[in-house]
Amino acid sequence: MSKSIFRKKSIDKILADVASGFSDSEHSGGISLAKALNVTDLTLMGIAAVVGAGIFSTIGEASFNGGPGVTILFVLTAITCGFSALCYAEFASRIPVAGSAYTYAYASFGELIAWIIGWDLLMEYAIGNIAVAISWSEYFVNLLEGFKIHMPSYLTMDYFSAFTAHEKLAELTASGNTAEITDRMKLAANAWATAPGSGDIRFIANIPALLIVIIITYLVYVGIRETKKATNAMVYLKIFIVLAVIAIGFFYVTPANWHPFLPNGFGGVMKGVSGVFFAYIGFDAISTTAEECQNPQRDLPRGMIYSLIVCTILYILIALVLTGMVNYKELQVGDPLAFVFAKVGLNKISGIISISAVIATASVLLIFQLGQPRIWMSMSRDGLLPKAFSRIHPKYHTPSFATIVTGIVVAVPALFLNLTEVTNLTSIGTLFAFVLVCGGVLLLPREATVKGKFQLPYVNSQFIVPVLFIIGVIFFKDKIGNLISGENVHERFPYFLFILLSLTLTVLSFVKKLSLIPVLGLLSCFYLMAELEYQSWIRFLAWLVIGLVIYFFYGYKHSVMGKEKAIRE
Ligand code: ALA
Repeated sequence: MSKSIFRKKSIDKILADVASGFSDSEHSGGISLAKALNVTDLTLMGIAAVVGAGIFSTIGEASFNGGPGVTILFVLTAITCGFSALCYAEFASRIPVAGSAYTYAYASFGELIAWIIGWDLLMEYAIGNIAVAISWSEYFVNLLEGFKIHMPSYLTMDYFSAFTAHEKLAELTASGNTAEITDRMKLAANAWATAPGSGDIRFIANIPALLIVIIITYLVYVGIRETKKATNAMVYLKIFIVLAVIAIGFFYVTPANWHPFLPNGFGGVMKGVSGVFFAYIGFDAISTTAEECQNPQRDLPRGMIYSLIVCTILYILIALVLTGMVNYKELQVGDPLAFVFAKVGLNKISGIISISAVIATASVLLIFQLGQPRIWMSMSRDGLLPKAFSRIHPKYHTPSFATIVTGIVVAVPALFLNLTEVTNLTSIGTLFAFVLVCGGVLLLPREATVKGKFQLPYVNSQFIVPVLFIIGVIFFKDKIGNLISGENVHERFPYFLFILLSLTLTVLSFVKKLSLIPVLGLLSCFYLMAELEYQSWIRFLAWLVIGLVIYFFYGYKHSVMGKEKAIRE
Protein backbone atom coordinates (compact mmCIF):
# COMPACT_ATOMS: atom_id res chain seq x y z
CA MET A 1 0.00 0.00 0.00
CA SER A 2 2.75 2.46 0.91
CA LYS A 3 4.00 2.24 -2.66
CA SER A 4 0.67 2.16 -4.42
CA ILE A 5 -0.63 5.37 -2.88
CA PHE A 6 2.21 7.07 -4.73
CA ARG A 7 1.42 5.40 -8.06
CA LYS A 8 1.87 7.95 -10.81
CA LYS A 9 -0.05 8.53 -13.98
CA SER A 10 2.56 9.19 -16.63
CA ILE A 11 2.20 12.17 -18.93
CA ASP A 12 2.03 9.74 -21.88
CA LYS A 13 -0.85 7.88 -20.25
CA ILE A 14 -2.71 11.09 -19.47
CA LEU A 15 -2.37 12.27 -23.05
CA ALA A 16 -3.31 8.85 -24.45
CA ASP A 17 -6.49 8.83 -22.36
CA VAL A 18 -7.48 12.20 -23.72
CA ALA A 19 -6.62 11.20 -27.29
CA SER A 20 -8.94 8.20 -26.93
CA GLY A 21 -11.64 10.60 -25.78
CA PHE A 22 -12.34 8.71 -22.55
CA SER A 23 -14.96 7.29 -24.80
CA ASP A 24 -16.17 4.30 -22.87
CA SER A 25 -19.83 4.63 -22.15
CA GLU A 26 -19.22 4.38 -18.42
CA HIS A 27 -17.72 7.82 -18.44
CA SER A 28 -18.79 10.36 -20.98
CA GLY A 29 -20.91 8.16 -23.23
CA GLY A 30 -18.45 8.89 -26.05
CA ILE A 31 -19.24 12.59 -25.94
CA SER A 32 -16.34 15.02 -25.69
CA LEU A 33 -16.15 18.62 -24.58
CA ALA A 34 -16.55 21.39 -27.19
CA LYS A 35 -13.25 22.97 -28.35
CA ALA A 36 -14.21 26.61 -28.40
CA LEU A 37 -11.51 28.68 -26.68
CA ASN A 38 -8.60 30.65 -28.17
CA VAL A 39 -5.89 32.75 -26.50
CA THR A 40 -8.04 35.89 -26.33
CA ASP A 41 -10.90 33.96 -24.73
CA LEU A 42 -8.49 32.41 -22.24
CA THR A 43 -6.92 35.75 -21.30
CA LEU A 44 -10.35 37.27 -20.86
CA MET A 45 -11.46 34.28 -18.81
CA GLY A 46 -8.36 34.69 -16.66
CA ILE A 47 -9.16 38.35 -16.05
CA ALA A 48 -12.79 37.44 -15.50
CA ALA A 49 -11.76 34.99 -12.78
CA VAL A 50 -9.28 37.33 -11.11
CA VAL A 51 -10.89 40.76 -10.95
CA GLY A 52 -13.74 40.44 -8.51
CA ALA A 53 -14.50 40.39 -4.82
CA GLY A 54 -10.84 40.93 -3.95
CA ILE A 55 -10.39 44.25 -5.63
CA PHE A 56 -13.95 45.41 -5.04
CA SER A 57 -14.13 44.28 -1.45
CA THR A 58 -11.33 42.60 0.52
CA ILE A 59 -8.82 45.29 -0.51
CA GLY A 60 -10.65 47.58 1.96
CA GLU A 61 -9.67 45.66 5.09
CA ALA A 62 -6.13 45.07 3.77
CA SER A 63 -5.65 48.81 3.15
CA PHE A 64 -7.06 49.62 6.58
CA ASN A 65 -4.43 47.36 8.17
CA GLY A 66 -1.46 48.18 5.95
CA GLY A 67 -2.10 51.79 4.91
CA PRO A 68 -0.73 52.92 1.51
CA GLY A 69 2.01 50.31 1.98
CA VAL A 70 -0.56 47.69 0.97
CA THR A 71 0.74 48.45 -2.53
CA ILE A 72 3.93 46.59 -1.57
CA LEU A 73 1.82 43.56 -0.73
CA PHE A 74 0.16 43.75 -4.15
CA VAL A 75 3.62 43.72 -5.74
CA LEU A 76 4.90 40.86 -3.55
CA THR A 77 1.78 38.81 -4.20
CA ALA A 78 2.01 39.46 -7.93
CA ILE A 79 5.61 38.21 -7.95
CA THR A 80 4.57 35.10 -6.02
CA CYS A 81 1.67 34.47 -8.39
CA GLY A 82 3.99 35.15 -11.33
CA PHE A 83 6.32 32.31 -10.31
CA SER A 84 3.35 30.03 -9.82
CA ALA A 85 1.80 31.08 -13.14
CA LEU A 86 5.01 30.14 -14.93
CA CYS A 87 4.97 26.74 -13.24
CA TYR A 88 1.30 26.24 -14.09
CA ALA A 89 2.17 27.24 -17.64
CA GLU A 90 4.93 24.64 -17.83
CA PHE A 91 2.51 21.94 -16.70
CA ALA A 92 -0.31 23.19 -18.90
CA SER A 93 1.88 22.95 -21.97
CA ARG A 94 3.07 19.46 -21.09
CA ILE A 95 -0.26 18.10 -19.90
CA PRO A 96 -3.02 19.89 -21.79
CA VAL A 97 -5.82 18.08 -20.02
CA ALA A 98 -8.68 19.34 -17.86
CA GLY A 99 -8.06 19.02 -14.13
CA SER A 100 -5.45 21.67 -13.50
CA ALA A 101 -3.08 21.14 -10.57
CA TYR A 102 -4.78 17.83 -9.78
CA THR A 103 -3.71 16.27 -13.08
CA TYR A 104 -0.25 17.82 -12.80
CA ALA A 105 0.24 16.35 -9.33
CA TYR A 106 -0.84 12.90 -10.55
CA ALA A 107 1.99 12.98 -13.08
CA SER A 108 4.65 14.34 -10.77
CA PHE A 109 3.92 13.26 -7.18
CA GLY A 110 1.58 10.30 -7.61
CA GLU A 111 -1.96 9.47 -6.59
CA LEU A 112 -2.10 10.40 -2.92
CA ILE A 113 -0.80 13.93 -3.44
CA ALA A 114 -2.99 14.22 -6.54
CA TRP A 115 -6.00 13.39 -4.41
CA ILE A 116 -4.91 15.83 -1.73
CA ILE A 117 -4.58 18.59 -4.28
CA GLY A 118 -7.90 17.73 -5.95
CA TRP A 119 -9.53 17.90 -2.55
CA ASP A 120 -7.64 21.10 -1.74
CA LEU A 121 -8.74 22.73 -5.00
CA LEU A 122 -12.28 22.45 -3.68
CA MET A 123 -11.17 25.16 -1.29
CA GLU A 124 -10.02 27.40 -4.08
CA TYR A 125 -13.00 26.94 -6.33
CA ALA A 126 -16.01 26.01 -4.24
CA ILE A 127 -15.12 27.74 -0.96
CA GLY A 128 -13.69 30.66 -2.97
CA ASN A 129 -16.98 30.92 -4.77
CA ILE A 130 -18.86 31.00 -1.50
CA ALA A 131 -16.76 34.07 -0.62
CA VAL A 132 -17.46 35.66 -3.98
CA ALA A 133 -21.19 34.95 -3.73
CA ILE A 134 -21.29 36.57 -0.28
CA SER A 135 -19.45 39.62 -1.56
CA TRP A 136 -21.72 39.77 -4.63
CA SER A 137 -24.71 39.76 -2.34
CA GLU A 138 -23.34 42.70 -0.36
CA TYR A 139 -22.90 44.88 -3.43
CA PHE A 140 -26.24 43.73 -4.86
CA VAL A 141 -28.13 44.64 -1.71
CA ASN A 142 -26.43 48.07 -1.71
CA LEU A 143 -27.47 48.52 -5.28
CA LEU A 144 -31.10 47.65 -4.49
CA GLU A 145 -30.96 50.20 -1.69
CA GLY A 146 -29.86 52.76 -4.28
CA PHE A 147 -33.08 51.98 -6.17
CA LYS A 148 -35.02 52.28 -2.89
CA ILE A 149 -35.73 48.54 -2.76
CA HIS A 150 -35.22 47.27 0.78
CA MET A 151 -34.73 43.61 1.54
CA PRO A 152 -35.12 42.57 5.19
CA SER A 153 -31.53 42.63 6.47
CA TYR A 154 -31.83 39.16 8.03
CA LEU A 155 -32.24 37.79 4.49
CA THR A 156 -28.99 39.37 3.28
CA MET A 157 -26.27 38.06 5.59
CA ASP A 158 -25.07 35.14 7.66
CA TYR A 159 -26.00 34.31 11.23
CA PHE A 160 -22.50 34.74 12.62
CA SER A 161 -22.04 38.29 11.25
CA ALA A 162 -25.39 39.36 12.64
CA PHE A 163 -24.70 37.78 16.02
CA THR A 164 -21.22 39.32 16.36
CA ALA A 165 -22.46 42.76 15.35
CA HIS A 166 -25.29 42.52 17.87
CA GLU A 167 -22.83 41.64 20.67
CA LYS A 168 -20.30 44.29 19.64
CA LEU A 169 -22.95 47.00 19.40
CA ALA A 170 -24.25 46.17 22.86
CA GLU A 171 -20.70 46.25 24.23
CA LEU A 172 -19.83 49.59 22.62
CA THR A 173 -23.11 51.15 23.72
CA ALA A 174 -22.60 49.94 27.30
CA SER A 175 -19.04 51.28 27.42
CA GLY A 176 -20.04 54.59 25.85
CA ASN A 177 -17.76 54.10 22.83
CA THR A 178 -20.50 54.98 20.39
CA ALA A 179 -18.05 56.67 18.00
CA GLU A 180 -16.79 53.21 17.04
CA ILE A 181 -20.22 52.04 15.92
CA THR A 182 -20.24 51.79 12.13
CA ASP A 183 -23.25 51.75 9.74
CA ARG A 184 -22.32 48.22 8.76
CA MET A 185 -22.44 47.14 12.39
CA LYS A 186 -25.83 48.77 12.87
CA LEU A 187 -27.23 47.01 9.82
CA ALA A 188 -26.00 43.60 10.97
CA ALA A 189 -27.29 44.18 14.49
CA ASN A 190 -30.63 45.15 13.00
CA ALA A 191 -30.68 41.82 11.14
CA TRP A 192 -30.30 40.09 14.48
CA ALA A 193 -33.01 42.15 16.13
CA THR A 194 -35.58 41.71 13.35
CA ALA A 195 -34.92 38.08 12.39
CA PRO A 196 -37.72 35.55 12.97
CA GLY A 197 -37.03 33.37 16.01
CA SER A 198 -35.96 34.17 19.54
CA GLY A 199 -32.98 33.89 21.87
CA ASP A 200 -30.04 32.45 19.99
CA ILE A 201 -32.23 30.59 17.50
CA ARG A 202 -33.02 32.96 14.64
CA PHE A 203 -33.47 32.59 10.90
CA ILE A 204 -30.73 34.65 9.23
CA ALA A 205 -29.58 33.67 5.74
CA ASN A 206 -28.01 35.22 2.67
CA ILE A 207 -30.72 34.72 0.05
CA PRO A 208 -29.16 36.82 -2.79
CA ALA A 209 -25.97 34.73 -2.49
CA LEU A 210 -28.05 31.59 -2.94
CA LEU A 211 -29.92 32.98 -5.94
CA ILE A 212 -26.85 34.16 -7.85
CA VAL A 213 -25.21 30.75 -7.47
CA ILE A 214 -28.33 29.08 -8.87
CA ILE A 215 -28.36 31.40 -11.90
CA ILE A 216 -24.65 30.96 -12.58
CA THR A 217 -24.87 27.20 -12.21
CA TYR A 218 -27.63 27.15 -14.81
CA LEU A 219 -25.46 29.16 -17.26
CA VAL A 220 -22.49 26.87 -16.79
CA TYR A 221 -24.73 23.83 -17.20
CA VAL A 222 -26.06 24.88 -20.58
CA GLY A 223 -22.72 25.22 -22.26
CA ILE A 224 -19.19 26.47 -22.67
CA ARG A 225 -20.03 28.65 -25.69
CA GLU A 226 -22.74 30.47 -23.77
CA THR A 227 -20.38 30.80 -20.82
CA LYS A 228 -17.70 32.24 -23.08
CA LYS A 229 -20.01 34.86 -24.55
CA ALA A 230 -21.26 35.92 -21.14
CA THR A 231 -17.71 36.06 -19.78
CA ASN A 232 -16.30 38.11 -22.63
CA ALA A 233 -19.06 40.70 -22.35
CA MET A 234 -18.68 41.02 -18.59
CA VAL A 235 -14.93 41.22 -18.64
CA TYR A 236 -14.75 44.11 -21.14
CA LEU A 237 -17.11 46.05 -18.95
CA LYS A 238 -15.14 45.44 -15.80
CA ILE A 239 -11.80 46.35 -17.35
CA PHE A 240 -13.37 49.58 -18.57
CA ILE A 241 -14.71 50.40 -15.11
CA VAL A 242 -11.45 49.60 -13.36
CA LEU A 243 -9.59 51.83 -15.83
CA ALA A 244 -12.14 54.58 -15.28
CA VAL A 245 -11.74 54.29 -11.50
CA ILE A 246 -7.98 54.66 -11.89
CA ALA A 247 -8.17 57.54 -14.37
CA ILE A 248 -10.79 59.58 -12.51
CA GLY A 249 -9.49 58.61 -9.09
CA PHE A 250 -6.02 59.97 -9.77
CA PHE A 251 -7.49 63.49 -10.03
CA TYR A 252 -8.84 63.15 -6.49
CA VAL A 253 -5.67 61.81 -4.91
CA THR A 254 -4.28 63.86 -2.05
CA PRO A 255 -0.59 62.87 -1.87
CA ALA A 256 -0.61 63.63 1.88
CA ASN A 257 -2.70 60.47 2.31
CA TRP A 258 0.31 58.43 1.18
CA HIS A 259 2.29 59.59 4.23
CA PRO A 260 3.21 57.72 6.29
CA PHE A 261 3.48 54.95 3.73
CA LEU A 262 3.74 52.19 6.35
CA PRO A 263 1.68 53.49 9.29
CA ASN A 264 1.52 50.03 10.92
CA GLY A 265 4.90 48.81 9.72
CA PHE A 266 5.51 45.75 7.57
CA GLY A 267 3.49 43.69 10.06
CA GLY A 268 0.39 45.76 9.30
CA VAL A 269 0.89 45.22 5.59
CA MET A 270 1.24 41.46 6.02
CA LYS A 271 -2.08 41.31 7.88
CA GLY A 272 -3.68 41.79 4.48
CA VAL A 273 -2.13 38.69 2.89
CA SER A 274 -5.34 36.72 2.77
CA GLY A 275 -7.44 39.51 1.21
CA VAL A 276 -4.78 40.58 -1.28
CA PHE A 277 -3.87 37.06 -2.34
CA PHE A 278 -7.58 36.34 -2.74
CA ALA A 279 -7.71 39.18 -5.25
CA TYR A 280 -5.19 37.38 -7.47
CA ILE A 281 -6.75 33.94 -7.34
CA GLY A 282 -8.21 32.79 -10.61
CA PHE A 283 -5.59 33.03 -13.37
CA ASP A 284 -4.94 29.34 -12.79
CA ALA A 285 -8.62 28.47 -13.18
CA ILE A 286 -8.38 28.57 -16.95
CA SER A 287 -6.13 25.51 -16.83
CA THR A 288 -9.27 23.50 -16.08
CA THR A 289 -10.56 24.22 -19.57
CA ALA A 290 -7.61 22.61 -21.39
CA GLU A 291 -9.80 20.21 -23.31
CA GLU A 292 -12.00 23.02 -24.53
CA CYS A 293 -9.04 24.99 -26.01
CA GLN A 294 -8.20 25.01 -29.67
CA ASN A 295 -4.43 24.95 -29.01
CA PRO A 296 -3.91 24.38 -25.27
CA GLN A 297 -0.14 23.94 -25.34
CA ARG A 298 0.41 27.34 -26.85
CA ASP A 299 -2.61 29.27 -25.60
CA LEU A 300 -3.06 28.16 -21.98
CA PRO A 301 0.36 29.40 -20.79
CA ARG A 302 -0.12 32.66 -22.65
CA GLY A 303 -3.65 33.15 -21.34
CA MET A 304 -2.53 32.66 -17.75
CA ILE A 305 0.48 34.93 -17.96
CA TYR A 306 -1.25 37.70 -19.93
CA SER A 307 -4.18 37.80 -17.54
CA LEU A 308 -1.87 37.95 -14.53
CA ILE A 309 0.13 40.83 -16.02
CA VAL A 310 -2.99 42.86 -16.82
CA CYS A 311 -4.45 42.31 -13.35
CA THR A 312 -1.20 43.15 -11.57
CA ILE A 313 -0.94 46.51 -13.30
CA LEU A 314 -4.58 47.30 -12.58
CA TYR A 315 -4.31 46.29 -8.93
CA ILE A 316 -1.22 48.28 -8.11
CA LEU A 317 -2.77 51.38 -9.63
CA ILE A 318 -6.07 50.79 -7.82
CA ALA A 319 -4.30 50.35 -4.48
CA LEU A 320 -2.48 53.65 -4.99
CA VAL A 321 -5.66 55.48 -5.98
CA LEU A 322 -7.67 54.04 -3.12
CA THR A 323 -5.16 54.89 -0.42
CA GLY A 324 -4.48 58.26 -2.03
CA MET A 325 -8.12 59.37 -2.17
CA VAL A 326 -8.94 58.97 1.52
CA ASN A 327 -7.07 58.27 4.72
CA TYR A 328 -6.41 54.53 5.05
CA LYS A 329 -8.21 54.47 8.41
CA GLU A 330 -11.51 55.00 6.62
CA LEU A 331 -11.16 52.00 4.36
CA GLN A 332 -12.49 49.24 6.60
CA VAL A 333 -15.64 48.86 4.49
CA GLY A 334 -17.07 46.10 2.30
CA ASP A 335 -17.34 48.30 -0.79
CA PRO A 336 -14.16 50.44 -0.69
CA LEU A 337 -14.13 51.53 -4.34
CA ALA A 338 -17.70 52.79 -4.28
CA PHE A 339 -17.06 54.28 -0.84
CA VAL A 340 -14.09 56.48 -1.81
CA PHE A 341 -15.95 58.01 -4.73
CA ALA A 342 -19.01 58.74 -2.59
CA LYS A 343 -16.61 60.23 -0.05
CA VAL A 344 -15.23 62.77 -2.54
CA GLY A 345 -18.78 63.64 -3.62
CA LEU A 346 -18.92 61.63 -6.87
CA ASN A 347 -22.10 59.76 -6.02
CA LYS A 348 -23.01 58.87 -9.59
CA ILE A 349 -19.64 57.25 -10.17
CA SER A 350 -19.98 55.47 -6.87
CA GLY A 351 -23.30 54.03 -8.12
CA ILE A 352 -21.74 52.93 -11.40
CA ILE A 353 -18.97 51.18 -9.47
CA SER A 354 -21.54 49.29 -7.43
CA ILE A 355 -23.27 48.08 -10.60
CA SER A 356 -19.92 47.05 -12.06
CA ALA A 357 -18.94 45.22 -8.89
CA VAL A 358 -22.10 43.16 -9.17
CA ILE A 359 -21.17 42.25 -12.74
CA ALA A 360 -17.47 41.73 -11.99
CA THR A 361 -18.06 39.37 -9.13
CA ALA A 362 -20.71 37.47 -11.11
CA SER A 363 -18.12 36.72 -13.77
CA VAL A 364 -15.70 35.35 -11.16
CA LEU A 365 -18.47 33.07 -9.97
CA LEU A 366 -18.98 31.91 -13.50
CA ILE A 367 -15.37 30.88 -14.06
CA PHE A 368 -15.01 29.09 -10.75
CA GLN A 369 -18.33 27.40 -11.16
CA LEU A 370 -17.00 26.24 -14.52
CA GLY A 371 -13.67 25.03 -13.10
CA GLN A 372 -14.80 22.94 -10.15
CA PRO A 373 -16.87 20.37 -12.11
CA ARG A 374 -13.97 19.89 -14.55
CA ILE A 375 -11.63 18.99 -11.70
CA TRP A 376 -14.16 16.53 -10.37
CA MET A 377 -14.56 15.17 -13.88
CA SER A 378 -10.83 14.42 -14.06
CA MET A 379 -10.84 12.81 -10.63
CA SER A 380 -13.81 10.68 -11.56
CA ARG A 381 -12.17 9.53 -14.78
CA ASP A 382 -9.30 8.29 -12.64
CA GLY A 383 -11.72 6.41 -10.42
CA LEU A 384 -11.08 8.59 -7.36
CA LEU A 385 -14.67 9.84 -7.42
CA PRO A 386 -17.86 8.06 -8.54
CA LYS A 387 -18.42 7.79 -12.31
CA ALA A 388 -21.37 10.16 -12.29
CA PHE A 389 -18.93 13.07 -11.87
CA SER A 390 -17.51 12.53 -15.37
CA ARG A 391 -20.89 12.22 -17.09
CA ILE A 392 -21.17 14.68 -19.99
CA HIS A 393 -24.52 16.09 -21.03
CA PRO A 394 -25.50 14.77 -24.50
CA LYS A 395 -26.93 18.10 -25.64
CA TYR A 396 -24.91 20.75 -23.77
CA HIS A 397 -21.56 18.91 -23.76
CA THR A 398 -20.82 19.95 -20.18
CA PRO A 399 -20.10 17.78 -17.10
CA SER A 400 -23.71 17.85 -16.03
CA PHE A 401 -23.84 15.97 -12.73
CA ALA A 402 -20.62 17.55 -11.42
CA THR A 403 -21.97 21.00 -12.35
CA ILE A 404 -25.14 20.48 -10.35
CA VAL A 405 -23.26 19.13 -7.34
CA THR A 406 -20.95 22.16 -7.48
CA GLY A 407 -24.02 24.41 -7.49
CA ILE A 408 -25.35 22.76 -4.34
CA VAL A 409 -21.96 22.70 -2.59
CA VAL A 410 -21.55 26.44 -3.14
CA ALA A 411 -25.13 27.69 -2.85
CA VAL A 412 -26.09 26.13 0.46
CA PRO A 413 -23.06 27.22 2.55
CA ALA A 414 -23.24 30.69 0.94
CA LEU A 415 -26.50 31.10 2.84
CA PHE A 416 -24.83 30.73 6.20
CA LEU A 417 -21.06 31.36 6.13
CA ASN A 418 -19.04 34.44 7.02
CA LEU A 419 -16.92 36.25 4.38
CA THR A 420 -13.66 36.55 6.33
CA GLU A 421 -13.61 32.88 7.30
CA VAL A 422 -14.17 31.67 3.77
CA THR A 423 -11.66 34.14 2.30
CA ASN A 424 -8.97 32.86 4.67
CA LEU A 425 -9.71 29.25 3.83
CA THR A 426 -9.66 29.97 0.11
CA SER A 427 -6.32 31.74 0.32
CA ILE A 428 -4.59 29.03 2.31
CA GLY A 429 -6.02 26.28 0.10
CA THR A 430 -4.95 28.01 -3.09
CA LEU A 431 -1.47 28.81 -1.81
CA PHE A 432 -1.06 25.15 -0.95
CA ALA A 433 -2.07 24.20 -4.50
CA PHE A 434 0.52 26.63 -5.83
CA VAL A 435 3.17 25.14 -3.53
CA LEU A 436 2.48 21.70 -4.96
CA VAL A 437 2.47 22.92 -8.55
CA CYS A 438 5.84 24.65 -8.10
CA GLY A 439 7.19 21.59 -6.29
CA GLY A 440 5.80 19.36 -9.05
CA VAL A 441 7.73 21.23 -11.72
CA LEU A 442 10.94 20.47 -9.85
CA LEU A 443 10.15 16.77 -10.21
CA LEU A 444 9.48 16.88 -13.95
CA PRO A 445 12.25 15.60 -16.22
CA ARG A 446 13.87 18.33 -18.35
CA GLU A 447 12.45 18.33 -21.86
CA ALA A 448 14.01 19.05 -25.23
CA THR A 449 12.69 22.30 -26.72
CA VAL A 450 9.54 21.78 -28.78
CA LYS A 451 8.49 24.54 -31.12
CA GLY A 452 5.13 26.15 -30.38
CA LYS A 453 5.09 24.95 -26.78
CA PHE A 454 5.72 27.06 -23.72
CA GLN A 455 8.86 26.17 -21.81
CA LEU A 456 9.91 27.41 -18.40
CA PRO A 457 13.34 29.06 -18.70
CA TYR A 458 15.97 27.25 -16.65
CA VAL A 459 18.02 29.49 -14.35
CA ASN A 460 20.55 27.78 -12.10
CA SER A 461 19.62 28.31 -8.44
CA GLN A 462 22.91 26.99 -7.05
CA PHE A 463 24.23 30.31 -5.75
CA ILE A 464 21.21 32.61 -6.02
CA VAL A 465 19.07 30.71 -3.48
CA PRO A 466 21.80 30.46 -0.80
CA VAL A 467 22.46 34.21 -1.19
CA LEU A 468 18.73 34.93 -0.88
CA PHE A 469 18.59 32.69 2.17
CA ILE A 470 21.31 34.69 3.90
CA ILE A 471 19.60 37.98 3.02
CA GLY A 472 16.33 36.55 4.37
CA VAL A 473 17.96 35.54 7.65
CA ILE A 474 19.39 39.05 8.09
CA PHE A 475 16.09 40.72 7.19
CA PHE A 476 13.96 38.51 9.45
CA LYS A 477 16.47 38.01 12.25
CA ASP A 478 14.18 39.48 14.94
CA LYS A 479 11.27 37.33 13.88
CA ILE A 480 13.44 34.21 13.77
CA GLY A 481 14.91 35.08 17.17
CA ASN A 482 11.40 35.28 18.68
CA LEU A 483 10.26 32.01 17.19
CA ILE A 484 10.45 29.91 20.30
CA SER A 485 10.09 32.51 23.00
CA GLY A 486 7.08 34.24 24.55
CA GLU A 487 3.47 33.09 24.62
CA ASN A 488 1.55 30.98 22.11
CA VAL A 489 4.68 29.43 20.62
CA HIS A 490 2.50 26.86 18.81
CA GLU A 491 1.02 29.67 16.69
CA ARG A 492 4.45 30.21 15.15
CA PHE A 493 4.57 26.64 13.90
CA PRO A 494 3.77 27.59 10.26
CA TYR A 495 6.66 30.03 10.30
CA PHE A 496 8.92 27.39 11.73
CA LEU A 497 7.93 25.07 8.88
CA PHE A 498 8.75 27.84 6.42
CA ILE A 499 12.26 28.17 7.82
CA LEU A 500 12.79 24.41 7.63
CA LEU A 501 11.60 24.37 4.04
CA SER A 502 13.85 27.29 3.12
CA LEU A 503 16.84 25.58 4.63
CA THR A 504 16.11 22.32 2.83
CA LEU A 505 15.60 24.03 -0.52
CA THR A 506 18.76 26.07 -0.08
CA VAL A 507 20.79 22.90 0.41
CA LEU A 508 19.04 21.12 -2.47
CA SER A 509 19.50 24.11 -4.77
CA PHE A 510 23.19 24.19 -3.99
CA VAL A 511 23.69 20.46 -4.43
CA LYS A 512 21.28 19.71 -7.29
CA LYS A 513 21.30 23.02 -9.18
CA LEU A 514 17.50 23.15 -9.13
CA SER A 515 15.57 25.38 -11.52
CA LEU A 516 15.27 28.81 -9.88
CA ILE A 517 11.72 29.83 -10.81
CA PRO A 518 9.90 26.88 -9.19
CA VAL A 519 12.12 27.13 -6.10
CA LEU A 520 11.25 30.81 -5.68
CA GLY A 521 7.58 30.04 -6.38
CA LEU A 522 7.52 27.36 -3.73
CA LEU A 523 9.25 29.52 -1.14
CA SER A 524 7.21 32.66 -1.76
CA CYS A 525 3.88 30.79 -1.66
CA PHE A 526 4.85 29.00 1.53
CA TYR A 527 5.94 32.29 3.04
CA LEU A 528 2.52 33.81 2.36
CA MET A 529 0.91 30.71 3.86
CA ALA A 530 3.05 31.13 6.98
CA GLU A 531 1.78 34.70 7.30
CA LEU A 532 -1.84 33.53 7.49
CA GLU A 533 -3.65 33.12 10.79
CA TYR A 534 -2.98 30.02 12.83
CA GLN A 535 -6.74 29.33 12.93
CA SER A 536 -6.77 29.04 9.14
CA TRP A 537 -4.00 26.45 9.32
CA ILE A 538 -5.96 24.36 11.78
CA ARG A 539 -9.11 24.47 9.64
CA PHE A 540 -7.08 23.70 6.56
CA LEU A 541 -5.43 20.70 8.19
CA ALA A 542 -8.81 19.43 9.42
CA TRP A 543 -10.09 19.73 5.85
CA LEU A 544 -7.15 17.69 4.55
CA VAL A 545 -7.74 14.98 7.15
CA ILE A 546 -11.38 14.63 6.03
CA GLY A 547 -10.10 14.36 2.46
CA LEU A 548 -7.66 11.61 3.40
CA VAL A 549 -10.40 9.60 5.08
CA ILE A 550 -12.49 9.79 1.90
CA TYR A 551 -9.50 8.76 -0.22
CA PHE A 552 -8.73 5.68 1.83
CA PHE A 553 -12.37 4.60 1.98
CA TYR A 554 -13.22 5.28 -1.65
CA GLY A 555 -10.53 6.57 -4.04
CA TYR A 556 -7.80 4.13 -3.10
CA LYS A 557 -10.09 1.15 -3.78
CA HIS A 558 -11.63 2.44 -7.00
CA SER A 559 -8.57 4.03 -8.59
CA VAL A 560 -8.26 3.17 -12.29
CA MET A 561 -4.47 3.21 -11.98
CA GLY A 562 -4.75 0.80 -9.08
CA LYS A 563 -6.96 -1.58 -11.08
CA GLU A 564 -4.68 -1.45 -14.11
CA LYS A 565 -1.72 -2.23 -11.89
CA ALA A 566 -3.56 -5.19 -10.34
CA ILE A 567 -4.38 -6.58 -13.82
CA ARG A 568 -0.75 -6.22 -14.93
CA GLU A 569 0.41 -8.07 -11.85
N1 ALA B 1 -9.76 36.79 -7.45
C1 ALA B 1 -11.12 36.51 -7.30
C2 ALA B 1 -11.86 37.62 -6.70
O1 ALA B 1 -11.24 38.54 -6.23
C3 ALA B 1 -11.35 35.25 -6.53
O2 ALA B 1 -13.06 37.61 -6.67
